[in-house]
Amino acid sequence: MTLHELARHTAAEFQAAYDRPPRWLVAAPGRVNVIGEHNDYNDGFVLPMAIERYAVMAAAESAGGKNAISIRSTAPGANPITIDLSAPVKPGEPRWGNYPRGVVAGFLARGIQPRGLDVLLHSSVPLGGGLSSSAALEVCTATLIEAATGKSIDPVAKALLCQKAEHEFAGMPCGIMDQFISVMGRENHLLLIDCRSRQTELVPMSDPSVAVLIINTCVKHELTGSEYPTRRKQCETAAKILGVASLRDATADLLERDRGKLDGVVYRRARHVISEIERTVHAAEGIRASNWPAVGQLMYASHDSLRDDYEVSCPEADAVVEIAAGIGIKGGVYGCRITGGGFGGCCVALIKADAVDLISRQMAADYRKQTGIAAAIFVSRPANGAMVLPGQCPVTETAFQSIDLSPIV
Ligand code: GLA
Repeated sequence: MTLHELARHTAAEFQAAYDRPPRWLVAAPGRVNVIGEHNDYNDGFVLPMAIERYAVMAAAESAGGKNAISIRSTAPGANPITIDLSAPVKPGEPRWGNYPRGVVAGFLARGIQPRGLDVLLHSSVPLGGGLSSSAALEVCTATLIEAATGKSIDPVAKALLCQKAEHEFAGMPCGIMDQFISVMGRENHLLLIDCRSRQTELVPMSDPSVAVLIINTCVKHELTGSEYPTRRKQCETAAKILGVASLRDATADLLERDRGKLDGVVYRRARHVISEIERTVHAAEGIRASNWPAVGQLMYASHDSLRDDYEVSCPEADAVVEIAAGIGIKGGVYGCRITGGGFGGCCVALIKADAVDLISRQMAADYRKQTGIAAAIFVSRPANGAMVLPGQCPVTETAFQSIDLSPIV
């Protein structure tokens, strides 16, 4: 589905649910991280791109002037939520509602009082697939509140407000990457984020000869919840022992010098982060120079490090990366790695654009042979960050470029 179709579909769903047309239509993308994994909470560099998959909200003032935000979702089995604006906003059930609840609480804390709204949510970001469906939902909610109140907040403050929602309402101590890219993504660019200074740099990636392939392993090992905070703590422990404020300040030499002071696991966690920060800086250089083989090698090295040192991969993601490496540059694959928090979800591959179909089919066939699982595979160009979709509904045909969101296999 193109973004245009997605917007039209969401507007039509709103009309069907609430029996009137929406007044606002907003979207926020998911993301894929090309390289720089588990670097954001270590003050390091990350290099994600927004993808052509979006959380979309259609909304209008609530019927009867109700002082509440009611959100219905088209996701199967998702019960509707109501956020009462006359009482303090707290986390609750259903759990998916905690992302919008947290964002609304963030606006209230900034003294921005949203009005009562009826909202219809439709998302094309695969849920739990490591493509930041939750950040897309948070940023989409924030964009809607901005549109409905007419009060825009600075992009960095907006991303941080959404991150806080995730920390305090969803209990996930995430870094800043997902919310930053969903707010600040730019078409045909990756975003190099310095997670210490929070400065961002757009890195152009418009070479038509390369494509970013996203391979959803379609498995989610239920470890992320407990393992993610553990990794964060291990990194903090390493930094403390090494005498630095964060692992951003450590070097491979420093780590080797003090190796004896760290237990084996903490040592390996630190080795991943220190080397991954370096790889990310080099990958940005490689992308600026269109040196795709060099970028690809860094992606493979990132995967090895995530698998062996950070231990956040899983057999299914390892299988995808092995299949990709087997196809190799000759077959059109420059590099491949697991992306996102880990323990399943998606892999990202950098491939030759003219081999997209062949590679996708081979990867799907080999993955199914090895694991018995059907992968979902699609390409995405780097997309724009959150947006208010233009015009009143129905959206005009020319308002959107045609983006093919359908999976290849
Ligand atoms: C999750 C978190 C991000 C980041 C990645 C790992 O997606 O939300 O902040 O830490 O894991 O790179």
